[in-house]
Amino acid sequence: MENQRSKPPHNPIKATLDSEIFVNQLISWYGHQKRDLPWRQTNDPYKIWLSEIILQQTRVKQGMPYYLKFIEQYPTVKDLANAPESEVLRLWQGLGYYSRARNLHSCAKTVSSELKGVFPLKFDALLKLKGIGRYTAAAIASIAFNEPNAVVDGNVFRVLSRVFGIENDISDSKSLKVFETKANTLIDKKAPGEFNQAIMDFGAIQCTPKSPACAICPMSHFCFAFNTSKQGQLPVKTKKVKVRNRYFYYFIYEHGDKLLMKERGPKDVWQGLYDFNLLESQSPLSEEDFLKELGTKELTLLDFSEEVKHILTHQRIFTRFIRVRVNELGNFIALSKSKNLEAFELAEVQELPKPILIQNYLQKEFF
Ligand code: ADE
Repeated sequence: MENQRSKPPHNPIKATLDSEIFVNQLISWYGHQKRDLPWRQTNDPYKIWLSEIILQQTRVKQGMPYYLKFIEQYPTVKDLANAPESEVLRLWQGLGYYSRARNLHSCAKTVSSELKGVFPLKFDALLKLKGIGRYTAAAIASIAFNEPNAVVDGNVFRVLSRVFGIENDISDSKSLKVFETKANTLIDKKAPGEFNQAIMDFGAIQCTPKSPACAICPMSHFCFAFNTSKQGQLPVKTKKVKVRNRYFYYFIYEHGDKLLMKERGPKDVWQGLYDFNLLESQSPLSEEDFLKELGTKELTLLDFSEEVKHILTHQRIFTRFIRVRVNELGNFIALSKSKNLEAFELAEVQELPKPILIQNYLQKEFF
């Protein structure tokens, strides 16, 4: 029978050699190609922690201005702990995944009040803090404290699966252990922070998801994916994220220079951020349908927008904004009470933390 295996039989000597060459090539590549990033010029665990929280699910280019703003506004963990949550959320505005900002603030409070402002030195102790998972604990422990814990994120899945031909499905949570074990056998025990950041940069710059730069890659001669033309199939990922459609109809009630807004509660996106009176539907509504909401009160319909599409990881939010003037102050107050809204002057609205969808609308219509 014909041999159908895509992989050659396992050869432990070759595997060890490949691992050694991989580490040497990676560190040498990093020496030439490493990105000059501000959190790489410090050993301060506060700054390293902050950078790692910002960089969860965010690219370096997008995260950098936020890192610089946070460090300027809150030079120490105590400064961050003492800030009001709404201010932290406002500074985070536009970065998305706002639970990161709430956890960041909560963690800063814990470190400041219970740990005298000092971050724990060890992976296991870091893991106990809010918002710090295995990836972030490994990154902080290795970069700030030289503890040899390998990080495993999307970059690492990609690089290791391709170079070493690891075909475990990364959407299966059990695969994390396989990649973590491999990464921990490779990690440079003398310079674990450097190794971790090298593999992050290698994945971000060289071994990219689409069109990796194999022609100029120092690993290609022993890279499994390159040698079997499987770059497009690795890492293996079977489960696609399920995306739900939501239809939002926002009513912007205004009276003079005041708008009615609402702080969003838990168990949905944008907790702690402010939006307007919301009518949500499972399916799109006609203009006639959503305008019915206005009833017969003394309201003047000023305008309504076309549909705006806002994409999150698990949701597509289709939004229309309906701008309404409330002529009588009494009606304005009654409306705010009955719909649980708060009145804010435009200058105050500017300062509130808001989803970027709302910020963009306000920018266009009011600011
Ligand atoms: N992504 C997450 N952490 C990072 C870091 N320290 N450097 C570059 N990219 C990263």
